[in-house]
Amino acid sequence: VAATQRVRVRLGPRSYDVHIGWEILPELGRAMAALGLGPRALIVADGNVADSHAPLCASALHAAGLQTHLVVVPPGEGSKTLRGAERLYDACLDCGLDRSSCIVALGGGVVGDLAGFVAATYMRGVDFVQVPTTLLAQIDASVGGKVAVDHPRGKNLIGAFHQPRLVWCDVRLLHTLPAAEFAAGMAEAVKHGILGSPRYYAFVRRHHAELLAHRPEALIRLVAGSVRIKAAVVAADERERWVPPAAASQGRPRSRMVLNLGHTLAHALEAVAGFGALRHGEAVAIGLVAAGRLALGRGLWSPRWQAELEQTLQALRLPVRIPGLPLAELLAAMRVDKKAVGGVLRYILPVRPGEVAICEDVRPEELAAVLTGMGAAA
Ligand SMILES: NC(=O)c1ccc[n+]([C@@H]2O[C@H](COP(=O)([O-])OP(=O)(O)OC[C@H]3O[C@@H](n4cnc5c(N)ncnc54)[C@H](O)[C@@H]3O)[C@@H](O)[C@H]2O)c1
Ligand SMILES: [Zn+2]
Repeated sequence: VAATQRVRVRLGPRSYDVHIGWEILPELGRAMAALGLGPRALIVADGNVADSHAPLCASALHAAGLQTHLVVVPPGEGSKTLRGAERLYDACLDCGLDRSSCIVALGGGVVGDLAGFVAATYMRGVDFVQVPTTLLAQIDASVGGKVAVDHPRGKNLIGAFHQPRLVWCDVRLLHTLPAAEFAAGMAEAVKHGILGSPRYYAFVRRHHAELLAHRPEALIRLVAGSVRIKAAVVAADERERWVPPAAASQGRPRSRMVLNLGHTLAHALEAVAGFGALRHGEAVAIGLVAAGRLALGRGLWSPRWQAELEQTLQALRLPVRIPGLPLAELLAAMRVDKKAVGGVLRYILPVRPGEVAICEDVRPEELAAVLTGMGAAA
C-alpha cells in the first residue's frame, strides 16, 4: 500500500493538517475525535457523491463515537448560492447542531465552498472538515480557507476566510470521478508547478500517463505536492493582502495573488462562454497558455518552456486554444475581474518553471494580440 502523506498548513492558531492517502476514509473519525471535534457532525454531500461515499464517511465517524446527519444538495455550481446556504442552515437547526458541532464537506469544490461558508456563519462559526472528492478540490479548493457562495452578478462574491480543522484527501475517492473532471483538476496541478516548484512541475510533466491511469502512489505524490505548494503560499499570506508587486513575487512567492496564475483569463472565459459551458480547470488551462504567451512576448519566458507547457496540457487532454469567443467581450470581462485592485489588473506571469512575476503594466494591445493568436474572434 502507498504511504499516507501529511502536510501541515501553518497558520498559527488556525494551523491544520492535510492527510493524503489511499483508502484512508475509514480512519477519518479517529482523526476528528483526536482533535476533539464533534460530538455531532453534519455531513454535506452532493447527489453524485452521497450514494457512493457518504455511507463509508458516516460509518468512519460512528466508529469514533461521533453522531452524524447527512444532507444532500443538488450537484453543480447552482447549489452555491445564498438560497443553498439557507437550506443548509435549516438542516443544521433541524439536526440540533450547536457551537460545538462540526460540518463535514464531502464533495468537490462546490460542496466545500458552500458547506465551508455555512460553517463560517452558522452560530458565528463552527468547526469544519474538508473531505474533498474531486481532484480540483483535493489539490486546491479544500486548502486555504476561502469559502463562498455565488451572487447572480458574479462567482464567489459572498464569502469569508474560514480555515478547516482538518483536510482528508482519500485519493481512492477519485476513482468514480469522470475523466474530464480529473483532467480539469490537472490544470491546477500544472499551475502549482509553474508558480511554485520546478521539481513538482517536472513530475507532473513526466508522469501524466500514470496519473491518468490513477496509480495510487502517483496520485498521492500529485495531491501532496500541490497541497505543499498551496500551503506555503497560504501560510505566507492567509488573507490575500495587498503587497507591492516586486515584494510579492521575488524569489519565493510571498503573496497569495500568485495563485491567480492563469485565472484572470479563466474567469473571463467562464463568464463569456456562460458558466458551465467550460469547466473551471479547462478555462485555467487556456489561461496558463495565455500567461505564458504574454510572458514570452515580454522576454520573460522561453519558447521551449512555452512549448513544454502547451504539450503538457494537451497530453492531459486539456484545451489550449480559445473556443471562438469574441475578443471584445473577453477584454471587457477581464476588466471587471474582482481581483483588480483600485482598477489595476495584475497579471501573474511565468518567469521560469517554479517562479512567477506580478505585472501591473500589461497593455490591452498586448493582451489582444495574445488572445487573437489563441483563437479569440475579432
Ligand atoms: N475555495 C477555494 O479556494 C477554491 C479554489 C478553486 C475552486 N473553488 C471552487 O470549486 C468549485 C469547483 O470545484 P469542482 O471542480 O470540484 O466542482 P464540483 O464540486 O461541482 O464537482 C464536479 C463534479 O464532480 C462530481 N463529483 C465530485 N466528486 C466526485 C466523485 N468522487 N465521483 C464522481 N463524481 C464526483 C460533482 O457532483 C460534480 O458534478 C467552484 O465553485 C470554484 O469556485 C474554490
Ligand atoms: Zn482555479
